[in-house]
Amino acid sequence: MEHGNPPGAADREERIRPACAVWHRNADFATAAADLAAQLQLPLAAPGAPPAGYRLLVGPALMLQDDRPGSPGGIVAALAQAADQGERYRQAGAGREALLRAVGARRGHRPHVVDATAGLGRDALVMAAAGCRVTMIEHCPLLAAMLAHSLATPAPQLRQVAARMRLLCGDALHLLSTPGDVDVIYLDPMYDTPGRRAKPGKEMQLLQGLLGADPDPAPLLAAALACDTCRVVVKRHRKAPAMADMAPHHSITGRSTRFDVYLPSR
Ligand SMILES: C[S@@+](CC[C@H](N)C(=O)[O-])C[C@H]1O[C@@H](n2cnc3c(N)ncnc32)[C@H](O)[C@@H]1O
Repeated sequence: MEHGNPPGAADREERIRPACAVWHRNADFATAAADLAAQLQLPLAAPGAPPAGYRLLVGPALMLQDDRPGSPGGIVAALAQAADQGERYRQAGAGREALLRAVGARRGHRPHVVDATAGLGRDALVMAAAGCRVTMIEHCPLLAAMLAHSLATPAPQLRQVAARMRLLCGDALHLLSTPGDVDVIYLDPMYDTPGRRAKPGKEMQLLQGLLGADPDPAPLLAAALACDTCRVVVKRHRKAPAMADMAPHHSITGRSTRFDVYLPSR
């Protein structure tokens, strides 16, 4: 029997700590892999072990792989991926523009955003590359380790962008209560999209398989709205209802995604 934890705390712990083994690319990374396995309390995969599920591959970047047949392959944190993309990661796109408009970034104003559901840090990278300061919060220790590693080892052309990003590992429900000088809270919880025909991208497929949909994101929205910030932005599937059926002040709708903007002080 658990003591002192709210109901559902054990389920949540199980959800954010999925089974995964740590593996290393070659002998150069064996010590780093052993350290990380100890830190995350995960087993080290035995050399030559057959494919068995999720593996965190330790190499120049940390790569999460699902090595079962038919799986979407490996994913890395956005900052690590951008290192291989040259300047392509900066390219304007409709989704990028919609996100920046939603958080209120404009000429002469680059808000400090708390990305309370950081995931792989893809949205955080878009905002930081545009000049915003971004505080990322991630409660899954595995993903937080991938983000932390990417922040600690940015490619030279990404150092300035990485310097605008920081990471807090923990539950945003608790960490949001002391946001400090924050302008925007950004939420992108994992959601089910019933009836969706197109498969999500491989990053989202892997994250969904790893963590599943967030059973109840409503308390996170309530906590964000209770903070003293000018705006809260929620990313949704274009056709999904507003989170917790709370009508936003306005929305910015893209091809597959919608950003619902709440202005709590109005
Ligand atoms: C859909 S993913 C976010 C993807 C992210 N926007 C990106 O661009 O990579 C949702 C993430 O939010 C995290 N998350 C959900 N609830 C959280 C909470 N209460 N505190 C911190 N992280 C949370 C999940 O672990 C997951 O990694």
